[in-house]
Amino acid sequence: MPIVSNPSSQNETPAPIINLENVSVRYRLPSERIGTLKEYTIRLLQRRVRHRDFWAVHDLSLSINRGEVFGIVGDNGAGKSTLLKVISKVLRPTTGRVRIYGKIAPLLELGAGFHPELSGRENVFLNGALLGYSHEEMTAVFDEVVDFSELSEFIDAPIRTYSSGMYARLGFAVATAHQPEILIVDEILSVGDEAFQRKCTDRITGFRENGATVLMVSHNLGLISEMCDRAAWLDHGKLMKIGTAEEVIEMYREGFQ
Ligand SMILES: Nc1ncnc2c1ncn2[C@@H]1O[C@H](COP(=O)(O)OP(=O)(O)OP(=O)(O)O)[C@@H](O)[C@H]1O
Ligand SMILES: [Mg+2]
Repeated sequence: MPIVSNPSSQNETPAPIINLENVSVRYRLPSERIGTLKEYTIRLLQRRVRHRDFWAVHDLSLSINRGEVFGIVGDNGAGKSTLLKVISKVLRPTTGRVRIYGKIAPLLELGAGFHPELSGRENVFLNGALLGYSHEEMTAVFDEVVDFSELSEFIDAPIRTYSSGMYARLGFAVATAHQPEILIVDEILSVGDEAFQRKCTDRITGFRENGATVLMVSHNLGLISEMCDRAAWLDHGKLMKIGTAEEVIEMYREGFQ
């Protein structure tokens, strides 16, 4: 009998840029209260600190394609930020494999990479350096960063005096001053006001048109459905559903009602 090939295999398979295979992340939590650091150290040396294992991500496999805008939704504590940290290589998975076929910009989350005592201006350069850009490269985009963030009035004030929305504005403006190959955004878009959100989403759309890959976590389901091609729903560290953003959001909404 002739072997009938699967018609779908004749389609061009999209190239993954992020590939996770059976990824699990375990946190170790002390299972009893230890009052002081001294007591903790003594107990640690005596091997008398008891830990409870907590699996924040369970056996998760996921492939994200080059050029996709991919969303992750799920309740508080579902493991979304943990997953982004694993993808950004901030955390090593306890088991499983993470493969990234591109240059990943550091995880963009609220306040990441900012020093509270330094001014907005100094933080732009500090952040730029963390992103791998030289002083000259940051000088070249500095005015544009300040313009985009609309913080020129506050740019010489220490970051600790900024509101969370102002933090998010500056963070997003710096991280996206140069187009990254892979941009990972943890919730930061929801903090800005509506006008700023629009600017951010326009910028992300522009990146997508230029072939960048974007991975975003948000509780703003409208934003996920507007921006994302595909999405995943995480619940208690498990992948509940992966599909088009609409499908996933619908299922997530049904799931938690
Ligand atoms: N450093 C840590 N040590 C121990 N447990 C942690 C640590 N970080 C996160 N967790 C736990 O892992 C689980 C997942 O946390 P995570 O921050 O990934 O959730 P999330 O989906 O991003 O939630 P949110 O929507 O609130 O941002 C939570 O139960 C949390 O308590
Ligand atoms: Mg989170």
